[in-house]
Amino acid sequence: MIPAFSARLLSWHKRHGRHDLPWQGTRDPYRIWLAEIMLQQTQVAAVIPYYQGFLQRFPDIATLAAAPQDEVLRLWSGLGYYSRARNLRRAAQLVVAHHGGAFPRALDDIEALPGIGRSTAAAIAAFAYGTRAAILDGNVKRVLARHFAVAGFPGEKRIEKQLWQLAQELLPPRALARYTQAIMDLGATLCTRAQPACKDCPLHASCAALALGRVREFPTPRPAKAVPTRTTHMLLLMHKGELLLEKRPSAGIWGGLWSLPELEDSADAKRHCRTRYGCSIAAAQPLDPLAHGFTHFRLQIQPLLCPVNKLSPAAREAGQIWLSLEEAHGAAIPVPVRRLIERLLSRG
Ligand code: ADE
Repeated sequence: MIPAFSARLLSWHKRHGRHDLPWQGTRDPYRIWLAEIMLQQTQVAAVIPYYQGFLQRFPDIATLAAAPQDEVLRLWSGLGYYSRARNLRRAAQLVVAHHGGAFPRALDDIEALPGIGRSTAAAIAAFAYGTRAAILDGNVKRVLARHFAVAGFPGEKRIEKQLWQLAQELLPPRALARYTQAIMDLGATLCTRAQPACKDCPLHASCAALALGRVREFPTPRPAKAVPTRTTHMLLLMHKGELLLEKRPSAGIWGGLWSLPELEDSADAKRHCRTRYGCSIAAAQPLDPLAHGFTHFRLQIQPLLCPVNKLSPAAREAGQIWLSLEEAHGAAIPVPVRRLIERLLSRG
């Protein structure tokens, strides 16, 4: 029989976990709280010097509560996410005002302080008081999503609820401080996002994602944001083997590049070709559409092949150029225009 999840984590931690971090080996809730807040959005190595400097200047809750905000921010400067520092000072003042200056013991009271969510409250209580409460930070979400092959984005309420439930059920009867550090360390050192070291993992015998050969598929990534789609028609005006390119205005997408004439409505193609480019065309032949992704929208391109019967030389304007397909392909053009030219070249 495989020993319990928590038993394997605890014995792994004894030999392979982190034991010498400056916030370990203390049961002072202030020191533990400060570490957990600094570690919320910052890596261990970056936190250490700030942690030590901060404690030197503000060795206890009363000193922090009495400090001017500017000074607290100055000691935080460089760590980023400054609301953490403002919340910390504000919480210290609330601890002085409502708890007689002693950091509270009850989970609800801890979680009521500014800047402390459910997982951070549980971590502080487990480290400081040995409270039997589950944590669920990003690392733990990844460990649990993999071990139980929980599909779905963990930021989604339904999935998060499932993960909280698992985190709670897995808690050992005692040794909560060590267990909490162990599951954090497993996520930070072995069950990492990009390079999970499954062969060294104490949980590998029961890991569902590993058994499925799908470790990298968990946790399910955040669903891609729906981006708006814009549609355009691109005119491939061909005359004697040459293609018309038009210079784009310097502001906006593809600013300053050579591109194809564009049209919103294909019904206008003939008139547009005549009035703007001096081209008489018999028809505009739709080719296979092409999609191009930008950060904020998706461009759906409908190419229209327009063989030119007659070209009025007087209609040549600045910012318009006729080039062979090979020359056009080598010009400063946007990627999807290059794709379209490649298609034409391969048609021969
Ligand atoms: N990240 C968050 N809390 C931590 C802790 N106590 N030790 C190491 N990394 C952490």
